[in-house]
Amino acid sequence: MATRDCACGATVWLTGLPSSGKTTIARAVAEQLRAEGHRVEVLDGDEFRETLSAGLGFSREDRHTNVQRIGLVAEVLARNGVLALVPSIAPYADSRRAVRERHRASHTPYLEVHVATPSSTCSERDVKGLYAKQAAGEISGLTGVDDPYEAPDLPDLRIPAHAQTVAESAASLLSLLVERRLI
Ligand SMILES: Nc1ncnc2c1ncn2[C@@H]1O[C@H](COP(=O)(O)OP(=O)(O)OP(=O)(O)O)[C@@H](O)[C@H]1O
Ligand SMILES: [Mg+2]
Repeated sequence: MATRDCACGATVWLTGLPSSGKTTIARAVAEQLRAEGHRVEVLDGDEFRETLSAGLGFSREDRHTNVQRIGLVAEVLARNGVLALVPSIAPYADSRRAVRERHRASHTPYLEVHVATPSSTCSERDVKGLYAKQAAGEISGLTGVDDPYEAPDLPDLRIPAHAQTVAESAASLLSLLVERRLI
């Protein structure tokens, strides 16, 4: 059987705390891959919150439902040859496991990437001002502060995005994709 250059599709889920760098890394990787002619979609958790998951809140149950919806769309794309990059917090291990199972059931590659920026750096970056609002008592239920974040035990890749540049973080993810023969 002839080997083919991989156009097999995959989901790459980037999990991590708010402001850890998930969206930034996903966009940098997507930009590079698109320039090389790959079919890539970025399914950002924030976009889902405004569209398919509009109306959901931030309870454990709603967060789980949100992640399953994103996971379903990613799996459909990936199964049809698209590289789906998913920067979404996905704080609960069982939610992420269910998404992995969905991919396994259709024999669709699924990688989990932990953007492992520590909470102290995330709260300094505070891209959306959420850490400041939580500290001021204006909001509650912020992941990693006063709401759970279950870091993956065995991610396919852990990115120390507090200790490297965006370009270095993107390069490490691209290397993983090459190593797994997904690009
Ligand atoms: N190595 C790195 N990788 C990614 N982001 C970095 C890195 N170094 C610095 N940053 C900066 O950290 C910030 C990360 O913000 P970003 O919106 O990507 O976080 P996020 O994880 O998507 O957060 P949220 O969950 O709130 O959407 C950006 O301002 C980015 O420029
Ligand atoms: Mg983001």
